[in-house]
Amino acid sequence: MDKEKFYITTAIPYMNAKLHLGQIYEFIIADIMARFNRLAGKDVFFLTGADEHGQKIEKSAQNKGISTKEYVDKMVADMKRLLKLFCISNDSYIRTTDKKHEMVVQDILTKLKENDDLYKSTYKGWYCVPCETFLLDSQLADGKCPQCRREVEKVEEENYFFKLSKYEERLFNYINDNPDFIIPETRRNEVLGLLKQGLRDISISRTTVKWGVPIPFDSDHNCYVWVDALINYISALGYGTEDDSLLKKYWPADQQHIGKDILKFHTLIWPAILMSLGIKLPKHIIIHGWIMLGKEKLSKSKGITLDPDELSDRYGVDAIRYFLAREISFGQDGSFTHQSMVKRYNADLSNDIGNLVSRTVAMVNKYRDGVIPNKTISDGIVQKKWNETKIQAVKYIEDFKYSEYLMKIWGYINLTNKYIEDSQPWKIARSSEDSDIKKLDSILYDLVEAIRLSALMLIPFTPSTCEKIFKQIGISKRNEEFSLDIDGTWGVFEGGVKVGEREILFPRIEEDKQEKQ
Ligand code: ME8
Repeated sequence: MDKEKFYITTAIPYMNAKLHLGQIYEFIIADIMARFNRLAGKDVFFLTGADEHGQKIEKSAQNKGISTKEYVDKMVADMKRLLKLFCISNDSYIRTTDKKHEMVVQDILTKLKENDDLYKSTYKGWYCVPCETFLLDSQLADGKCPQCRREVEKVEEENYFFKLSKYEERLFNYINDNPDFIIPETRRNEVLGLLKQGLRDISISRTTVKWGVPIPFDSDHNCYVWVDALINYISALGYGTEDDSLLKKYWPADQQHIGKDILKFHTLIWPAILMSLGIKLPKHIIIHGWIMLGKEKLSKSKGITLDPDELSDRYGVDAIRYFLAREISFGQDGSFTHQSMVKRYNADLSNDIGNLVSRTVAMVNKYRDGVIPNKTISDGIVQKKWNETKIQAVKYIEDFKYSEYLMKIWGYINLTNKYIEDSQPWKIARSSEDSDIKKLDSILYDLVEAIRLSALMLIPFTPSTCEKIFKQIGISKRNEEFSLDIDGTWGVFEGGVKVGEREILFPRIEEDKQEKQ
């Protein structure tokens, strides 16, 4: 039987600066979803990539005194390095400077024109370069960009306009009739509110920006970077090319993950372009909040940054992945502080799961010469509670409740820790009674099985740690080989194998040594 398909995308970040933790957060939450769906047996296609055109990048390259192409090539190489570092399991990577992508953009612009959705007019207003956004007088906040609060540039030029207003009613009806198209609901209400105010046509070309895809029917114009960028989600699948097998297989996207600042582009402009082209809309647009440093929004120019390399050196990638998923209520803004990071690291990772694995492996070594006892059917609490834990956790992740999912699994991990305290294996180990030997065997098996199942559920969140855990409990399968259906059942592990080398998963961090924030 064919596997169910699952196409998931992230926004493609601008290649004007090194990635910060906010952009990495988006990759992490999308990666968790991609990995979870693979574990659940789906045929996943996970796309990310680089947004390389536009004025902002043109300017950044000029400031560095190198060619724009040379500049973006460097930035893309660094982004790919960071994706690898953060264990992002994307199946494909698109660059908007790929020739194939540029041809698709041109093909789509021609189609929009043929559909009578483009016209030429004069744009007179403002432009925010950091946000690559056109703004009218009425949209400015104290003369600045309402989004990033930076200076805007005056623009007056002849542009091509896209008839966004023509799609107003269709968009309203679609969003109204499909309550889970925009997730979470607060963002959906925001978009419905915008639609009630009415939509204006949007400028989709620039004559003054040279770094872009040329408009095929007018060589004086280059495509507005946002239209070019949005198209990546289908150009990466071969839309409009001879080989569109990926498009046939994976479109419409199941989940498109974006941040709250680019809501309008993805829930109004993108669907309207698709409507014009006669293509199905994505199933869900999932909007996350912002990562803040304490109470401040990340901003390179203000020096408020969270550098992914520094953070991974300090805490390790899995701890950061765990922290962001656990600490932030999905959809809300979330704050990163070193204090809260260290607290969670020590409590949840070093203590709860770290100690559970370490103690269990030590007991198997000490009481059973390193061999995990064979499977026994007991009525231990961790065995009894497993199914319920799994079912509820799965429900949480299907609702984008990453934090609740982890809390559920941690509840189980701590139940297992309590099981050790309550059953006191060290006392039973002193007895040579047959019944006690059996009892200890069954406790040790239960502990290993509870660890195996917890680690299975954590593969999407902390993939490298899970590999280490599996090794320590004598399981040699790679993460990709596990299936929630088959491996997620209590008792699948037969036992009877040797534990691996003990390894501290999360060495404790001294809290005093951390700077206060
Ligand atoms: O918007 N916290 O690129 P981008 C959380 N190129 N998420 C954040 C964030 C923060 N502090 N800062 C940014 C663009 N993001 C376009 C996208 S898609 C066709 C084109 C998120 O580099 C932001 O919301 O500014 C967006 O989803 C992603 O990072 C890339 O942002």
